[in-house]
Amino acid sequence: MKKYILDLRVRETVKVSGKHVLLKLTYDSKLPEMVPGQFVEVRIDGSATTMLRRPISINFVDYAANELWLLVAAVGDGTRWLTGGVKPGDVVNCVLPLGNGFTMPESADEKFLLVGGGVGVAPLLYMGERIKAMGGEPTFLLGARTKNDLLMLEEFEKYGRVFVTTEDGSMGEQGFVTNHSLLQKETFSMISTCGPKPMMMAVARYAVKADVECEVSLENMMACGLGACLCCVEKTVSGNLCVCKDGPVLNIKKLLWQL
Ligand code: FES
Repeated sequence: MKKYILDLRVRETVKVSGKHVLLKLTYDSKLPEMVPGQFVEVRIDGSATTMLRRPISINFVDYAANELWLLVAAVGDGTRWLTGGVKPGDVVNCVLPLGNGFTMPESADEKFLLVGGGVGVAPLLYMGERIKAMGGEPTFLLGARTKNDLLMLEEFEKYGRVFVTTEDGSMGEQGFVTNHSLLQKETFSMISTCGPKPMMMAVARYAVKADVECEVSLENMMACGLGACLCCVEKTVSGNLCVCKDGPVLNIKKLLWQL
């Protein structure tokens, strides 16, 4: 897919939790095509300590409103600027769309389970919307430490069934996503997951046991985002792959994870 370097303009910033902000960005012309699971590299203009762009998942693309949504967690100087320093009207320079996205269903009857944890839920919203747009009904299984850490639940509910786990039991079933009773009751044709690595490994273990195809979105450290610096390499059954260019979404059959 062709890549672009665009000066996007902040249309709105929405505080989603104590440390998460949703940036709604727009562009003077029509936004380019992007697929669920791809990401953007954002230039950090507001910090002297952050030379490198930051990779951020595409949370949602609203083509009718010509908006790109990025769900950003404040974890370092760069993301702190994105979550606290930018305001409506500011320009955010982005390289996009980067990487390969999730495999989408071939037909509306395929049952896709989208499993997310923490800010890793971000790309699953756009994926769910795309599945619903083709006539399917995605199932979301979303996990967090507490109910306050569950992000954008009302948005997910627009596109499919939503099941939730929290570690403290403050919402949904108590425990981790892989403990949810849904996994004992239903079968799926594909599991697509994004979140902390231990969670994705547990989901991958479940998928192997249940004999279900599974794709994970890796979050290796990235710099260039274009396959040039090799800092995001993941060893796989077919040799070293750049997560930024050959991923971030990979089928678990390619990985050397000890499941
Ligand atoms: Fe530079 Fe992947 S981030 S090669």
